[in-house]
This record gives sequence, structure tokens and C-alpha cells, in this order.
Amino acid sequence: MIPKSFVQDLLNRIDIVDVIERYVPLKKAGTNFVACCPFHNEKSPSFTVSQTKQFYHCFGCGAHGTAIGFVMEHAGMGFVDAVEELARSISIEVPREANSPAQQKVAPDLYDLMHAATRYYREQLKQSPRAIDYLKQRGLSGEVAARFGIGYAPDAWQNLEAVTPNYKDASLVATGKVIEGEGDKRYDRSRDRIMFPIVNVRGQVIGFGGRILDKGEPKYLNSPETTLFEKGHELYGLFQAQKTIRAKQCVIVVEGYMDVVALAQHGVEYAVATLGTATTPYHVQKLLRLSDQVVFCFDGDRAGQKAAWRALENALPQLVDGKRIGFLFLPEEHDPDTYIREFGREAFEELVEDSLPLSGYLLRELTSQVDLHTPEGRNALLQKAQPLLVAISAPATALLLRKEVAALAGVTQAELEALYEIKPVAAPQRRAPQKAARPAPSGLRALLRCLLLKPDLARQLPLDWSSEAEEGAAILELAQWVRVQESEVSAAATIQNFQGTKFESTFAAVQAETLKLGETFDVAAEFEGVLSMLRVDERKQQLLTLQRKIEQAELKGLSEQERTLYLQLLQRG
Ligand code: UTP
Ligand code: MN
Repeated sequence: MIPKSFVQDLLNRIDIVDVIERYVPLKKAGTNFVACCPFHNEKSPSFTVSQTKQFYHCFGCGAHGTAIGFVMEHAGMGFVDAVEELARSISIEVPREANSPAQQKVAPDLYDLMHAATRYYREQLKQSPRAIDYLKQRGLSGEVAARFGIGYAPDAWQNLEAVTPNYKDASLVATGKVIEGEGDKRYDRSRDRIMFPIVNVRGQVIGFGGRILDKGEPKYLNSPETTLFEKGHELYGLFQAQKTIRAKQCVIVVEGYMDVVALAQHGVEYAVATLGTATTPYHVQKLLRLSDQVVFCFDGDRAGQKAAWRALENALPQLVDGKRIGFLFLPEEHDPDTYIREFGREAFEELVEDSLPLSGYLLRELTSQVDLHTPEGRNALLQKAQPLLVAISAPATALLLRKEVAALAGVTQAELEALYEIKPVAAPQRRAPQKAARPAPSGLRALLRCLLLKPDLARQLPLDWSSEAEEGAAILELAQWVRVQESEVSAAATIQNFQGTKFESTFAAVQAETLKLGETFDVAAEFEGVLSMLRVDERKQQLLTLQRKIEQAELKGLSEQERTLYLQLLQRG
């Protein structure tokens, strides 16, 4: 665990404008900075960054957050990685709270060891004509081999003695590089294999895939899951491809190491591979953050068909309206490597262009399994489609697919929704719905604006604060949180703290409002004003409640007849 106080400290020491500028050119506009939003397509800039408040907000798509949130979204990193990245950019160390098994500390020497192994394998490749010939025969140039850090593990049991002063050190087992056999025996996992380093988005080597040169089993031997390497999270080639993916707004997902490398060899530098696992929802989410289009490319065989369907299932909950997911099935005997070698880049990219859209693939598969000419067949369609349609949360995509399936089954959309017991799809929502439906008591809203600008003001609020409105609940939560903070609290720290909680959207909406206030806005004066207004309101409310109580008591004193008459008179007004 990273201590919360460190997160606040970090947010105080970095400048969000510097951080965002590394990825997106910003222009000064009044007191804020603006740019075209990197998270959705737009022509005029609605992405706003406040240097004084240290947060960003897009008035187009609702994306919002602090510098940490920006790095997470933009680079597709987790919270811990984003904090580490930012800490490194200002050369400070991230402290860790001890004893948290969930996030074990990754000793930097494990990364060093992986790098040393990579260097060693690359050296060995240069000295092995057999390995060089193998790569040449597969059509790879020296440049591409270098781009992917490809190396060779010689045919010996303890190669890695060469890269570490102590082959018995536990770190070798922890990285999966060395296997402990019976007794005291230890030996390298990979021997006589072409080595493909697996690199995370920060450029650190976290694992290897090793391919046998001749025929043999297993064809590929991969690093096991370790503290460095989580298969369902990583994508081979993403580090090398991320720049091109961003520029082209397209990424191709293939199945093998050699597919990624061969595509790059032919100039298709925006391909990544899953690491011998199915495509996970996490993969899809990560790629959709980077790119508007994700094309899954599968071999034409049965295994490819199965893998494609798994990818579709895992993609559904992650769909984002306006982004495209395509499916490309190669001719039976091909994989991307053999296809591009035989037909070239243009032919391959044409296939990518013509890939089947997700909805087309989904409907094609479902309808091919049933007979739509019979009620039983249409019923089967409804049953098969249910879990798939229910999984989609992107409103427009959900709406369109529900309509299509309903039409195919000969029912109306409303009937389908009733059958599935799902809510009708409403108009597309923005990512951070700005709570405008029920106008909040404007006093509370104004108070929340003040608190977000200067959270320490919350220390002055009473804690018996209560309100039905969302703003009231948010204020109470904020007041409680601020009180237990030791030092002054910044706006950014507040936004960060409530990220991912049920108050996030309220704070995001208020955050957007504060961006529109002038820099001369007097927070303290406004706070005093609003507070005394709220106190007057509260007194009025109390008075009203008491008056009602008195009324009730008097009502009790009436006879049954008198009470009926009174109520009738009240109703008539
Ligand atoms: P394939 O069997 O399709 O191999 O496995 P490939 O990528 O075409 O390999 P080449 O062209 O023969 O060299 C696809 C992926 O499945 C994983 C690897 O990640 C591989 O890239 N795999 C395959 C393994 O992990 N172990 C294996 O034994 C085989
Ligand atoms: Mn292959």
C-alpha cells in the first residue's frame, strides 16, 4: 500500500500542467489551459486544465481527475504504477506501508536481473550462427530483432550464472528464471531457445517467452506468473507499439509473439499479442483507452474461432460508444506471420480495414446457431442473446443491438427488455453524468464549490450536518475526511480521495463548475455568506417543523367529525 499522505504530498509537489504537457500540447486560455481532449474525438478544445487547482476536466466527455488520474487514463496504468511514474519524474521515492500482501513490494533488483538476462541473451544471439540463421529464415532483420530485444539462451543448464554473482539467490526463482529441482539442484528455465523479452508499458522486462528452434514440446516456454508478471494484464509488444497505436488510433491484437514481430518487420507497427491466454476484459479496457479502434485477428482454425468468441464476451462490458471493435479471421492455413510474409502489408491492412464489426460478428454467430423460421428458433435466439446483451453498458451500442435482436426474434424492444428484466436504454449518458436532473438546493451546491476550492474550510463545519440531497451527503463525507488529515488539504488531493467512490460524479460536476469561476473569486467570503444563509434556512425549517408538530397536537384534540371536516377544508384550499 502507498500511504495516503504520500499521495497528497506527491500531488502538492508535481504540476499537472507539466505532466499533461508530456502527452498533450496545452494552450493557455485565460487562467486555465486547454487542448482537444485526448479521451474523445473533438475539433474544438473542451479539455481544460487548471494549474491553480491542479485538476483537469473535459466539458465534452466528462473525463476528469488529477495528475495521477490523467496518467492512469492516458497510459492505461494502474494507480500504483501511475504514482510511481509521477514520483520518478520528480526523483522521489515511493514509501510503502509494510505488510500488505496484495501489493508486494517489487524489489528493484528483480528488474535489474531481468535486464541483465536480456542483455546476456542478446550477446549470446550474436555468437550463435544457428540462432541467427533461424531468425533469418523466419524473415527477420537485425533491426527488428533489436527493436524487440530478441536473444538466445544457449543449450546449457546454468546460463544465468553469467549474469548474477549468486546463482543460488532467491531472486532468480522469484522471477521465474530458475527452477528449483530436487534437493539442492537448480537450473535455468530456458535452454536452447529464442528469447522474446516481455516488456511492460514502462519499458521494464518482466518476463520472457522462449521458442524452441527445432520441432519439440513445448513450442513456447513462458515465464510463470510472478510478482513482476501478470499474464491477464500484459500485452506483448505494447511498449514498442504504443506510439504508433496512438498516432493511427488503431491496434491489432494477434495470438503470437512471432506474429507481432513479423507484422513489425513488414511495417505494421501497431500490433500486440496476448500472452498465451484469452483476451481479458482488462486487455480490452487498456486498449480502448489508447485507441479508437481495436481489431482482433485470429487464425482461421477452430481454436481461432473459439478464441474470437471469448474475446467478444470479454469485450462486451468494456465497449465504449463511438469506438470500434473489429474481428478479422484469416484463411484457414494462415496466421498473421505467414499471411503478411506471403501477401505483404497492403493485403494484410486491407483485411484489417474490412474486419467484421463486433455487432455483425455477434449477430452472425447467434443467427447461425438457430432457425429463425420457427418460434422455437426465435426463442432460442432470445435465450442465447440475453447474457450478451445484458453485459453491454455502452448505451448506444446496447440500444442498437437490442433493437436488432428484437427484430430478428419478432418482438418489440420493450418486450425484449421486459423479458430480460432489464432497464430500457435511455439517451446516451456522458461518462460523468452531471447531476442536473434534480436541481440541488443551490446553497449546498455553492458550499460544496467553496469546499472544493479550499477543502480546509470543512474543518469549520458542524458534523451533525445532515441533508437528503446528494450535495449534503458529499459535504458531510468531505468534512469527516478533512478533519482526520494532518496537514492542509488541496483540491487535487480531495478529488483524488473521492475518485472511485459514490461521490465521484458529484465532485466531478462541482469541479467543472469551479473551473468557470474567475481567479478573483473570494472563497472565504462566499463560504461565510453561504453558511449563514444555510443557517437561516435551517432555522426556518426548524420553525416550520415545530409549527407542524403543534398543528398535529391540536388536531389530536379534535373530535372525529371535526378532524374530517378540517382535512376536507384543507384539501379544498
Ligand atoms: P501458436 O502455436 O499459434 O504459435 O501459438 P505461433 O505464434 O504461430 O508460433 P510460431 O509462428 O510457430 O513461432 C500462439 C501463442 O500461444 C502461446 C504463445 O504465446 C504463442 O505465441 N503458446 C503456444 C505457448 O505459450 N506455448 C506453446 O507451446 C504454444
Ligand atoms: Mn506462427
